[in-house]
Amino acid sequence: MLNPAWKDGLYCDLSEAKVSIEDRGYLLGDGVYEVIRIYNRKPFSLTAHLDRLERSASAIRLDVPYTKDELEAVIFELIGKSCYANGYIYMQLTRGSAKRDHLFPADAEPTLVMYTRELPPLPVIDSVNPAGCITVPDERWLNCYIKSINLLPNLLARQKAYESGSIEALFYRPGGLLTEGTRSNLFAVFDGVVYTHPATNLILAGITREIVIDLMQKLALPFKEEVILLEDISKASEVWITSTTLEVQPINSIDGNVLDHASPGKICMMLMKEFRNLAAED
Ligand SMILES: Cc1ncc(COP(=O)(O)O)c(C=O)c1O
Repeated sequence: MLNPAWKDGLYCDLSEAKVSIEDRGYLLGDGVYEVIRIYNRKPFSLTAHLDRLERSASAIRLDVPYTKDELEAVIFELIGKSCYANGYIYMQLTRGSAKRDHLFPADAEPTLVMYTRELPPLPVIDSVNPAGCITVPDERWLNCYIKSINLLPNLLARQKAYESGSIEALFYRPGGLLTEGTRSNLFAVFDGVVYTHPATNLILAGITREIVIDLMQKLALPFKEEVILLEDISKASEVWITSTTLEVQPINSIDGNVLDHASPGKICMMLMKEFRNLAAED
């Protein structure tokens, strides 16, 4: 199969997988999702992703209809059926298919779909290009800790970033409090200390963010989970963003202003290397 997919116990190619038009994910955005990286035919940080899926589902009052062991078995089978070494698994859980109504359906079964797609491996560390970000007001809701399939504010901001030649849009709340990117978490270094937004309801606590925090602990790098201010970001000595697909991505300009430091900086470079080692070992 080119891109193996799974739905309700059955495997097929992604091109043949089908979901009802009345699925509440399609009609109402009533669902949650996960993206898991495959490195060298193995899922990366699988348990952390499955735990987050369960947390997101529980936050929208939905039960994951399979045990973690069952989900793991499907994921390994999907990877086994795929023909590429590096890619990702997409998982989406919705409240199921029912006549359109805001109220939860009494008898609908949740829909769970999973599929894999290929991703080219990232360039070798020395060829990772630093990139720019723009900043935009954070117009999302206050439950960003849920990995919801409702992504319109993220999509609009990401498109704006793309059209201005930037890799990411960073959200800020009133008062200039930077939260995170449309699909990534933000880190910045001030006076040798790494800062990132605390894992509150205002951000999605990324699995990559957690791994980078663990690496910083292991390397005894000083860090604080504290808010970064928009007015301060240009004074940072290093800035980077993290995500499952970007890993650790150095940032060299914000809103078109080139940051006054070498990018990637020393700490970012160290974390990029350590992250790669971990992905290779895992
Ligand atoms: C809003 C948001 N923040 C952060 C992240 C990074 O999360 P992870 O490292 O688990 O990919 C994502 C990933 O999609 C995201 O959508």
